[in-house]
Amino acid sequence: MTILVTGGAGFIGANFVYLELDKHPEDRIVCLDKLTYAGNLETLKEALDKPNFRFVKGDICDRDAVFALFEEEKPDIVVNFAAESHVDRSIEDPGIFLKTNILGTQVLMDASREYKVKRYHQVSTDEVYGDLPLDRPDLFFTEETPLKTSSPYSSSKAGADLLVNAYHRTFDLPTTISRCSNNYGPYQFPEKLIPLMIANALDEKPLPVYGQGLNVRDWLYVEDHCKAIDLIIRKGEVGQVYNIGGHNEMKNIDIVKIICQELDKPESLITYVTDRKGHDMRYAIDPAKIHRDLGWLPETMFADGIKMTIKWYLDHKDWWQRIVSGDYMKYYEEMYGERLRQA
Ligand code: NAD
Ligand code: TYD
Repeated sequence: MTILVTGGAGFIGANFVYLELDKHPEDRIVCLDKLTYAGNLETLKEALDKPNFRFVKGDICDRDAVFALFEEEKPDIVVNFAAESHVDRSIEDPGIFLKTNILGTQVLMDASREYKVKRYHQVSTDEVYGDLPLDRPDLFFTEETPLKTSSPYSSSKAGADLLVNAYHRTFDLPTTISRCSNNYGPYQFPEKLIPLMIANALDEKPLPVYGQGLNVRDWLYVEDHCKAIDLIIRKGEVGQVYNIGGHNEMKNIDIVKIICQELDKPESLITYVTDRKGHDMRYAIDPAKIHRDLGWLPETMFADGIKMTIKWYLDHKDWWQRIVSGDYMKYYEEMYGERLRQA
């Protein structure tokens, strides 16, 4: 079987590529990635040596290139990770989010129809459900929760999800969608909360916590997310949406304190900065459906996962230090410079 993985040079896509190569050596994996600032070919360096892996640099919005690749590879399954993924960037510049996340999804689904793929899987997010209040810990997102987005990022992901359902209903495209909570683990770009705090703490730089740090996220180790997607594409029911999450809700400030503790760095590095615009308060997934229907359960507890993640960043300084230079520095100054000076 040939699986086309788009966005496989990014955080979750790369972890998925490695899981598939390891678990299903009989399958061929083709990775299509534009290598934006968030994509890194170095991340796939061990995969590139495998005879059943092929990397293609390209844009999912480029209809001709996408159709040519489908003609050549005739994929059985498409798993779409390719996206602009950072909320703060979407607040600065929504346009590219709408283009990649919605129009890119359309191009991939048009090609999937034309070449009659057996499954088109859309990797979505719990952020499409909007947020939950902090004072209602009894509420969780189920697959029936209405979509109600807050940021240009989540709106673009919700737009794509609606389009996926439309292609299923209108054209009978065999689709599935997964909506996962916040991931952490190896290869996450250091603009996201956990790797950013690890990288800054190691350099004893300020740890910029938005608002009061009371926002709650439901953290899942990336490998557990990838295992859930692996199950959905092989055993999931066409037309279905599956929520993925591990019932591991934590306040941002507590995560940052754990990182300080693990790295033996002082909490005085924590710096409260101006809040993110439209900042979602709480995400919490009810993963009962994927547990009931596919037998999925998370395997890595946060206490272990965060230790493994910190160790990975300590062991792979080259990987992220190369990233935390050049263009990223410009982004960092734009995003945090003024806020840190005001704090
Ligand atoms: P990421 O930003 O680390 O990686 C995105 C990848 O997509 C990069 O390799 C980038 O080069 C590639 N890409 C971007 N635009 C492209 C284009 N036009 N054509 C081809 N490739 C392109 O993102 P991630 O955190 O790995 O997230 C992957 C997917 O999972 C996204 O769809 C995201 O919405 C979803 N998701 C992420 C999380 C999370 O916590 N990170 C949680 C739930 C869902
Ligand atoms: P992030 O990793 O950007 O994921 P998302 O916004 O998709 O949930 O942020 C996780 C949480 O951490 C979110 O509530 C915003 C907060 N945050 C900070 O407090 N400081 C930071 O520098 C960043 C990047 C995030």
